[in-house]
Amino acid sequence: MVVEKILEKVRKKNNEGVVAESWKTKLGFLLAAMGSAIGLGNIWRFPGLAYENGGGAFLVPYFIALFVVGIPLILGEFYLGYTTKKAAPNALASLSERFRTPLKVLGYLIVINAFVIVSYYTVVIGWTVFYSVMSLFGRLSSDLFTPMINSGAGLLTGNITPTTILYVLSFTFVWALTYYILVKGVKGIERVCKIFIPLMWAILLLLLLRFITLDGSMNGILQYLTPNFAALTNPSVWINAFGQVFFSLSLAFGIMIAYAKYLKKQTISGSYVVALGNSSFELLAGFVVFAVLGFMTSIAGVTLISELDVPYSGAGLSFVTFPLAIQQMPFSYVFGVLFFILLFMAGLTSLLSLIEAFASSLKEDLNIDKKRIITALTLIGFVSGFVYIVNIQVLDKVDTFINYSLVFLGLLEALAIGYLFTKLPKNLYMTITLKVLAPLLLFIIFTVNTAQKLGYLNDLGGRAVPQLTELNLWAGLIFLIIVIEMIAFAYLLYRHSRD
Ligand code: ALA
Repeated sequence: MVVEKILEKVRKKNNEGVVAESWKTKLGFLLAAMGSAIGLGNIWRFPGLAYENGGGAFLVPYFIALFVVGIPLILGEFYLGYTTKKAAPNALASLSERFRTPLKVLGYLIVINAFVIVSYYTVVIGWTVFYSVMSLFGRLSSDLFTPMINSGAGLLTGNITPTTILYVLSFTFVWALTYYILVKGVKGIERVCKIFIPLMWAILLLLLLRFITLDGSMNGILQYLTPNFAALTNPSVWINAFGQVFFSLSLAFGIMIAYAKYLKKQTISGSYVVALGNSSFELLAGFVVFAVLGFMTSIAGVTLISELDVPYSGAGLSFVTFPLAIQQMPFSYVFGVLFFILLFMAGLTSLLSLIEAFASSLKEDLNIDKKRIITALTLIGFVSGFVYIVNIQVLDKVDTFINYSLVFLGLLEALAIGYLFTKLPKNLYMTITLKVLAPLLLFIIFTVNTAQKLGYLNDLGGRAVPQLTELNLWAGLIFLIIVIEMIAFAYLLYRHSRD
């Protein structure tokens, strides 16, 4: 017995490249992958983006992006990680002896891109901690945001206020917790996701049930669902849809490759659960957000959301508009705490995956203890977060750059997986999407986006927000599609949880 144990230890030690860590269960893996996908992007980004880009009509490019690029690529990433048992750089490098070096460079660009996101993602999660604390103490208000982000500059000027201290403490708490979870290995991530993912769904449904009973909520939801088809002639609407699917599904970050390398048993069909679960979550988050925006229209005495004098997307939506709306509800602090804890959990489970993708790549190549790598990355990430804390303008610039590079890296990854990965299941869907449609569409999108950035293509048409506030056939149809998707997700999840 003892000898066997010693031998096992030696075997493990000598087994370079063989993954010692693994997920406890398939369901644990799926929840972790879902935790990565469902992030800040689902709650604060998707609803406002959909609204500004044609409302219900946005779902046309969105679903095309999901089925042509999202699902095939997540499937490809899962399969690549599972079969090679390597993180992105080495997994991609193993696809071709001839292109080994460029593929490895691509893998590193992908995981470094993910780590750049980490540097500001933690700052935003810090805001959710700040707001949760404020809500808990009954101090939630729409006037917190500007003073909070401005207070960071006090670190440079020496004007340190209690707000600065809470801001820095909230940010530090995020990193401390992240470190604590990550040093426990993927089982730590699995444990957190097993608790957080069901809780996130429960809170989202609870908020939905509460918010749809508010005055004006239906008006808001109708504006979310009603399509403005004119938007579809605008290329930037398509760019936004593809960008959202990439960001939201955590694709081209090396995450799904790294997560799948820890799989003991194949669960490739699980990629459908993750893709549909993530998409259902953001579509539902849209209902929550628009019920609240509808409530705001009734308070302001206007009909259209576009007439509201408050932000309806991005940071402004979550940190200014939501507090403003929540403040005017009974038991406001309960809903404030729930909403910001939901954002916190969504952010944290994605954050863990963004770091893991880079850490596991470094672990393979440097062959040093993973705990040391996590410690080094935590220190680098913690220090770099202060760049945004002292000057918030940097955040938007870096985020725009990341989304731009994401499509380019995604294009290269789709080509590599589509053409070089010989073990990929050879069915018609995967072949057509990964070999032809995904690279073609991503190439067009990247070219148009670049032309726009270089100033060759200026006016791609204005934003197209929906105008109708009455129940109509299109809104009903889109609602039906969303319901079908959710039923498909629930069914697939049920089947996978029984495996
Ligand atoms: N997929 C994560 C998000 O949506 C990164 O925020």
